[in-house]
Amino acid sequence: MAIETLTGAAIRPHLPALARLRIGVFRDWPYLYDGSEAAEARYLEHFAASPHAALVVARRGGEIVGCSTCQPLVEQSDNLVAPWRAAGIEPQRVFYFGESVLLAAHRGQGIGVAFFAAREAHARGAGRYDIATFCAVERPEKHRLRPAGYVPLDGFWNRRGYARRADLVCRMAWKQVDSDAEVENQLVFWTKSLR
Ligand SMILES: CC(C)(COP(=O)(O)OP(=O)(O)OC[C@H]1O[C@@H](n2cnc3c(N)ncnc32)[C@H](O)[C@@H]1OP(=O)(O)O)[C@@H](O)C(=O)NCCC(=O)NCCS
Repeated sequence: MAIETLTGAAIRPHLPALARLRIGVFRDWPYLYDGSEAAEARYLEHFAASPHAALVVARRGGEIVGCSTCQPLVEQSDNLVAPWRAAGIEPQRVFYFGESVLLAAHRGQGIGVAFFAAREAHARGAGRYDIATFCAVERPEKHRLRPAGYVPLDGFWNRRGYARRADLVCRMAWKQVDSDAEVENQLVFWTKSLR
């Protein structure tokens, strides 16, 4: 398995692979994302336009089997930035980790750990960021689509050094597999010091 961090113009050629993985992997619990190429194109164009973004790709035998993204928090839309201002934390100090999406057949081999290490290295390399963050969707315990025996990623994230921040929440809307239109979801941020 080869893990590579791409920046600048090297990102764009890999956007179709990232879109394919996002649509495929985020369809599952807990995201339930019913992705369309149009929605992906908007999201990915914004990501690729960031001068400080990084795309980490996992390749096996030439095929991209996983992707992970990051970019400065201030480049995100206001619904993601505002909670930080409200909490008295300068968004300029924060590096935002967008997503990790890995085909199920390749999980449990350390690639998710490598995605965190690569993004933290990129954020530290940028020099002026104190905090790494990502956000996770909140779902009711009794949701009818929760798979039996589902193990949340909370333990995995704790072991990477991230803490759940119940005081930092945001809302994002997306079309779900169980809805006809976009649904607004609540997500909670997790943080780790980069110092
Ligand atoms: C999140 C995700 C990328 C994690 O990927 P992963 O490659 O399975 O994760 P890892 O293999 O790195 O880590 C899983 C465990 O295996 C362990 N591990 C590390 N190296 C390993 C190896 N060589 N062999 C086996 N296990 C290993 C890790 O230490 C970790 O255990 P720990 O948490 O007890 O430390 C993957 O589950 C995924 O794509 N999920 C769906 C999308 C999603 O929810 N993304 C997150 C939000 S955007």
